[in-house]
Amino acid sequence: MSLRGKVVLGDFFHAPTYGAIDVLAEALVSIDEAGRIDGVYEHGHAAFKDIESRAQSEGRLLALGKGRCVLPGFVDLHVHAPQYPQLGQALDAPLEVWLEKYTFPLEARYADTEFAKKSYALLVADLLAAGTTTALYFATVHLEATKILADLCLAGGQRALVGKVVMDHPDTCPSYYRDAGADAALADTRALIEYIQAHPGNAEGRVLPAITPRFVPSCTDAALEGLGAIARETGCHVQTHCSESDWAHGHVLERMGKSDTATLDGYGLLARRSVLAHANFMSEDDFDLMVQSGASIAHCALSNAYFAGAVFPLKRALEKGVRVGLGTDVSGGPTHSMFEATRMTLHAARMLEAGVDSRKPASERGVPGSAIDFATAFHLATAGGGNALELPVGTFEVGMNFDAMVVNVDSPHGTIRAIGDITPEELLQKIVYSASRPNIADVYVGGDRVAGAGS
Ligand code: GUN
Ligand code: FE
Repeated sequence: MSLRGKVVLGDFFHAPTYGAIDVLAEALVSIDEAGRIDGVYEHGHAAFKDIESRAQSEGRLLALGKGRCVLPGFVDLHVHAPQYPQLGQALDAPLEVWLEKYTFPLEARYADTEFAKKSYALLVADLLAAGTTTALYFATVHLEATKILADLCLAGGQRALVGKVVMDHPDTCPSYYRDAGADAALADTRALIEYIQAHPGNAEGRVLPAITPRFVPSCTDAALEGLGAIARETGCHVQTHCSESDWAHGHVLERMGKSDTATLDGYGLLARRSVLAHANFMSEDDFDLMVQSGASIAHCALSNAYFAGAVFPLKRALEKGVRVGLGTDVSGGPTHSMFEATRMTLHAARMLEAGVDSRKPASERGVPGSAIDFATAFHLATAGGGNALELPVGTFEVGMNFDAMVVNVDSPHGTIRAIGDITPEELLQKIVYSASRPNIADVYVGGDRVAGAGS
């Protein structure tokens, strides 16, 4: 089913600016033949009645009715697609051990394209059903399996950015799982860009390539330099990990004599279309570099609880003007649900504010001013992610793609319970804190229905 050329009547919730939500109650949103929003009419709008009755008489009106709320689809800024088989396990080790012991052996299995097809198909379907309409994916070093991930995103209708992982450093990457060398890594990166851009099923550009150095420790200087040159030449998105843990941050400081952020900047990998995952250990200079370059942070609160050793200073980053969105970091984070990532973002900021060690007096326990509200978290999971990727998604404004989910508040199998009188703002808060997959009735990307539990 497609909503292209149709008009939707319903309650729309979005958060175009950080810290505030906007409720469009019983509004009309019209969608053009390209799947983009070409009109938003609030209930009292002068043209409302005309547009509603014309769409109705032409059979182009979808009236959602009570108990249905339309939210922008989620933008997950950090997913390791190949790690889906180990989701919800293997979280008993620090990052550098987890990579060697569990993750590199699993990722190496994607040399087998049949395994890749099975695993990636399940992931794309599950993410869509969970309301993730846009995902920024790390794949593996393998070109063929990475092409398969792009194919499956296109087949499933998911908006996605897909990167072949570059990891060529012989000191940090095992011999059984690394690029043959910097030149091979760069050639495969170029080949993936060409494959995705010329893909016959990708005329609308729903899938884009991403330049993907795994992180500075896994890349040789030659690979970083070459990827920076490809980024400058092509203008493609860049994704990598940045200052995630004490170990990762310290490794780069020791090798490069400067931080991850400064290192990436030096190689031309810090630009408006760069998304840095984690960025937990940032100096004021690092944040300044982020602001100057316009690069964004994928805040991964779920996996930070396991690997970071600290809480990301989200409020400090936002107040500095750094662009931020959210990521699940599958499988460093133990769920693919962006609802869960949004909640963990709220919990982590709250705990940073209050502090964690009860033996300390309350006045010395936390970092005052760190908490955020649900409106900010909802903004980051939707509009913030779209803004980070510079894609027209994440809000219900004219010109945006109709990437959305219909939440059935009353689903008996769902986990939202709205009892008694409740304002629209309170209802959205409940959705953010308690919705789960059975509540997601329909998921649309570019106006096309791509998933959903049904009503
Ligand atoms: N740093 C380098 N690789 C990874 C990865 O796969 N996951 C996380 N969380 N951090 C990393
Ligand atoms: Fe990661």
